[in-house]
Amino acid sequence: MEEVKVFAPATVANVSCGFDVLGFCLDHVGDTVIVRKSNTPGVRITKIEGQELPLETKKNVAGVAVEALLEQIETPFGFEIEIEKGIKAGSGIGSSAASSAGAVVGVNALLGNPFSRNELIAFAMKGEELASGAAHADNVSPALLGGFTLVRCGKKPDVISLPAPTELFATIIHPKIELRTADARSVLKQSISLDKAIQQWGNVGALVSGLYTNNYKLISRALVDVIIEPERSILIPHFDELKATALAAGGLGGGISGSGPSLFTLSRGEKTAENVRQALIKSFEPHGIPFDTFVSKINTHGAKIV
Ligand code: HSE
Repeated sequence: MEEVKVFAPATVANVSCGFDVLGFCLDHVGDTVIVRKSNTPGVRITKIEGQELPLETKKNVAGVAVEALLEQIETPFGFEIEIEKGIKAGSGIGSSAASSAGAVVGVNALLGNPFSRNELIAFAMKGEELASGAAHADNVSPALLGGFTLVRCGKKPDVISLPAPTELFATIIHPKIELRTADARSVLKQSISLDKAIQQWGNVGALVSGLYTNNYKLISRALVDVIIEPERSILIPHFDELKATALAAGGLGGGISGSGPSLFTLSRGEKTAENVRQALIKSFEPHGIPFDTFVSKINTHGAKIV
């Protein structure tokens, strides 16, 4: 095999209550990453389509992720990478994670898969570190493993795959303003009250339990973020109105997708998710801000060779 093409999906990080630890994988929307062997050692980004992003390896999230992988294994050849951006940078649905995940999956495949998907997470996180200044794994984990994931943070990420109830569908609305993750992180307070922490970890546990038991009502009650959302939602135009609209249209719950500006809503059934999408369009259109919406099932396989 000399070349592979990888579809690397968009993801929703945080999932309301799980800042930096929870995430899930979306379907259809994502980046396409082509990786080919080269006689020149190392890694080169040869083409990026769809967006203006740096080609220089050390300034490109896919470049640094692959360099981290190549530090762990000797190869007789190098790699060239082409990226077709299907996800806009700064949209809140895991743009940098998709490129990083796609690149490491492609390189790993050309090397005969010496690393497991779980082992690739640490490499892809290097891309996140470059993009946002923080090596969070809550986008790259679902991008690589699919479904819902939980990250136990330590020296090395300890990532646990969680079940995805089959009737869960996500609705995404992306108001087209750019919100850089680094900026959305810089507004966060560095300490939280015990009272809020108790509410938040109760919700994380409840959400995990709801996913295991297909308990949609519990999932709905658990999709609450008392720590991050109050601080970040002011950066997103008409956030409160959009969230209330999604809930009134039948959504189980939702909030800021990753660091925003996209919002996600989880619903039981595709029809309800579509109703939520229609309601969001009706509510947001009069504001005159360009936006995109889509409905997605939960993608249970993650990045895929196509
Ligand atoms: N957990 C990260 C954050 C996700 O909220 O900053 C960024 O997409």
